[in-house]
Amino acid sequence: MSAPAPSKRLFIKTYGCQMNVYDSERMADVLSPLGYAVTDSPEGADLVVLNTCHIREKATEKVYSELGKLKEMRDERVAQGGSRMTIAVAGCVAQAEGEEIMRRQPAVDLVVGPQAYHQLPELIARSHRARGERLSADFAPEEKFDALAPAGRHATGVTAFLTVQEGCDKFCTFCVVPYTRGGEWSRSPEAIETEARDLAAQGVREVTLLGQNVNAYAGDGGLAALVRRLAAIEGLDRIRYTTSHPRDMDEALIAAHAEVDALMPYLHLPVQSGSDRILKAMNRAHTAQSYVRLIDKIRSARPDIAISGDFIVGFPGERDADFEATLDLVREVGYATAFSFKYSRRPGTPAAAMPGQVDEAVKDERLARLNALLDEQARAFNASQVGKVLPVLFERPGRHAGQLIGRSPYLQAVHATAPDRLIGQIVSVRIESAARMSLAGALVETAELELAPEMAL
Ligand code: SAH
Ligand code: SF4
Ligand code: F3S
Repeated sequence: MSAPAPSKRLFIKTYGCQMNVYDSERMADVLSPLGYAVTDSPEGADLVVLNTCHIREKATEKVYSELGKLKEMRDERVAQGGSRMTIAVAGCVAQAEGEEIMRRQPAVDLVVGPQAYHQLPELIARSHRARGERLSADFAPEEKFDALAPAGRHATGVTAFLTVQEGCDKFCTFCVVPYTRGGEWSRSPEAIETEARDLAAQGVREVTLLGQNVNAYAGDGGLAALVRRLAAIEGLDRIRYTTSHPRDMDEALIAAHAEVDALMPYLHLPVQSGSDRILKAMNRAHTAQSYVRLIDKIRSARPDIAISGDFIVGFPGERDADFEATLDLVREVGYATAFSFKYSRRPGTPAAAMPGQVDEAVKDERLARLNALLDEQARAFNASQVGKVLPVLFERPGRHAGQLIGRSPYLQAVHATAPDRLIGQIVSVRIESAARMSLAGALVETAELELAPEMAL
């Protein structure tokens, strides 16, 4: 396909989870044949897309304050005789409260939900004709992906996200995702393989398969079969997936962790709470004990696997004893890294109407205690790598000259002094020091490095 030379500037600001990061890239792909080139600031942009997140109140409020700033920027530009900027709101806030957005911020030209991104070119053309046009997303995801595919996938580095599943049928009582992303839906293994091959051909060495419930992937043979299929692609050396639900962590997937070299030893498996009473009120369909047993099973298949999780503190009805049970579970599991959140009351979800809403001060105190423990565990996990030699996939230059940043198999950021030509290579690095968020190390002299020192620049 011959695209016209870029003549318009597109700025996309992405909030929320990796699914939004993926969608933002695809929006850029679908708009590029129209002459839009991505820019890294809203100044001077012809089109600004906010790809929004609805998961917690703070995430949603950020969107409205950003819109306020954009409106000012646009008014100023127009007053100075500059070109008019089109403002679009995409993502989960667009889906959940499109009308509210239009009402609260008249500067918004269009609102487009996550299922309708393939409609963007047409929507933008229409909004240029008539201001204030909006469309909500009632399309099947299948249509979205099929329609985005012909535009091709433009790889932006040596790692890439690849959405394989969307939506959620679990209805945890605190969560908006089933309402913003719809029911669970899986792409076909063929379509995913085609996209993965396309990425590998562009130099991508690592893909992270994405889904709100990625391990509920329902294509032939489930996620395990998909992982094995993608592991066979030449050049694709690392496969990761996120986010998983404990309920869908099946035997086949656990076996894949034992048997497939390309499947990295890192698993994000949110538990949310260590109290069975709270887990039940959350509708999580697992207990603390069944979760711990599951982790044990996964560790017998892959002993060095790094476990990560999500936690919510201050869910309605959470008492001190429930919170202590969460701390106990964290001590028992031992997390490599984790994300913890204060419960945020989301309109329309069952938990929002539950009695026993917890005081903000109590939530703050619990979050601080949980974070202190998780921090300690993350530091210990990183410190345990010191002295080891890890295969690191270098991704990009570091902040200091001559330094590269890559990832260990356990998803830790690793800094090392290394020549740029090693970007995209998996290289042995001896880990020399560890911090809360990253490791630092030195290249292990390999035969290749010794034999060809003149290639070093
Ligand atoms: N599908 C994933 C997570 C999606 S949302 C899963 O089931 O694990 C990411 C995380 O946000 C959740 O794991 C949860 O910890 C947190 N979260 C979701 N809704 C929340 C709310 N109302 N308040 C606080 N945290 C929330
Ligand atoms: Fe939300 Fe639960 Fe679905 Fe995860 S599994 S997206 S937390 S409803
Ligand atoms: Fe947020 Fe939507 Fe992802 S609510 S976390 S952007 S699925």
